[in-house]
Amino acid sequence: MENKNILLGVTGGIAAYKMASVASSLTKRGHEVHVVMTESAQKFISPVTFRAITGLPVETDLFSEPEKHEVKHISLADKTDIALIGPATANIIGKIANGIADDLLTTIITAITVPVIIAPAMNVNMFNNPIIQENLDYLSEKEYKILTPSEGMLACGYVGKGRLPEPDILVEYILKGLTKKDLKGKKVLVTAGPTREEIDPVRYLTNYSSGKMGYALAKRASARGAEVKLFSGPTSLDNPIEVKTEKIKSANELYEKVINQMNEFDIIIMAAAVADFTPESISDNKIKKNNEDYMDLRLIRTKDIIKEISKNKEDDQIVVGFAAESNDLIKNARKKLELKNLDMIVANDIKNKEIFGSDESEVIIITDEKQIDVSRSSKENIANQIFDLLN
Ligand code: CTP
Repeated sequence: MENKNILLGVTGGIAAYKMASVASSLTKRGHEVHVVMTESAQKFISPVTFRAITGLPVETDLFSEPEKHEVKHISLADKTDIALIGPATANIIGKIANGIADDLLTTIITAITVPVIIAPAMNVNMFNNPIIQENLDYLSEKEYKILTPSEGMLACGYVGKGRLPEPDILVEYILKGLTKKDLKGKKVLVTAGPTREEIDPVRYLTNYSSGKMGYALAKRASARGAEVKLFSGPTSLDNPIEVKTEKIKSANELYEKVINQMNEFDIIIMAAAVADFTPESISDNKIKKNNEDYMDLRLIRTKDIIKEISKNKEDDQIVVGFAAESNDLIKNARKKLELKNLDMIVANDIKNKEIFGSDESEVIIITDEKQIDVSRSSKENIANQIFDLLN
């Protein structure tokens, strides 16, 4: 994504501190982050923090002298590609919904023509107040994107819905808002993460997959406008925003879900590291070691899910597989492309152990006609290249 101008409107809520992480993450990605703070926001966090993080002046005053002659609220509104207001207090929500422009932030928002995301954060009773809810509904009708606050312990001591979502989630919404919707109308199924094959009530067989590649694919497809479903094995990752995520455990459970639902999708991507073998039976009781030096564990083959998908798919459905190889990477990946009758295979060399659990990878994307080496880059970037080729 090329560098964009992002406006962060910070208002007076205790969660204002979280916006420092949002500003930092967006700045690290190379974007210009213009922070505009209301007077009450400055009681919670200093403009100096944002200036140091973004390397740009932080705007707080409608009437301060601009560096060159320009009408500040108009020039800031004009150069903005997307804006997020967070934490958005009941006060700013009420003002925007009623067209009130009495400080720098509200005048900019009134003049803005690009998407505006509003992330409310307040006491749960304030949030549930019918007037606030009506204001939010009205703003939503007017194409403002309203985020649902997270639930949990609130600064006022109440427990409920009212927390500002975590910075990573806010960043995800902003990046999503900046992405061209070239997969609109497409339905995409992604599987991700390891499977877990139970041995007894306390033990299981699994693998090193972190799920990060599959999650990146689900996120990017959704950001590009596709309707996305994600079947995920056990991972420590947060569910991607606006993606229907269902958790699975075993290879067999994943098989059932995928085969039952595969007809609904235009693109199916099997990024999950599916176990090839599973214990023949699961012991009801914990297996005791007794005095034996060895233990026999009989494993049976699981079903090859992707092979089954290819067998049953319609001509216009696209099926993508992954190949994790420790030797003869391209030869083995090509063999899988052919044997499993896939439209694309993404090969990665698992001898490079560093890649396990990393946010980055290095892959070769192979189709019948093409072979593209993608040097080490973020899994999101790799996901984008995969969709560029499929689209
Ligand atoms: N896969 C699958 N069902 C399985 C095993 C794998 O659908 N039971 C899918 C994976 O999700 C991946 C592709 O098949 O997209 C290749 O997986 P990989 O484990 O590399 O290959 P295998 O076919 O299992 O071959 P091998 O273990 O011999 O390398």
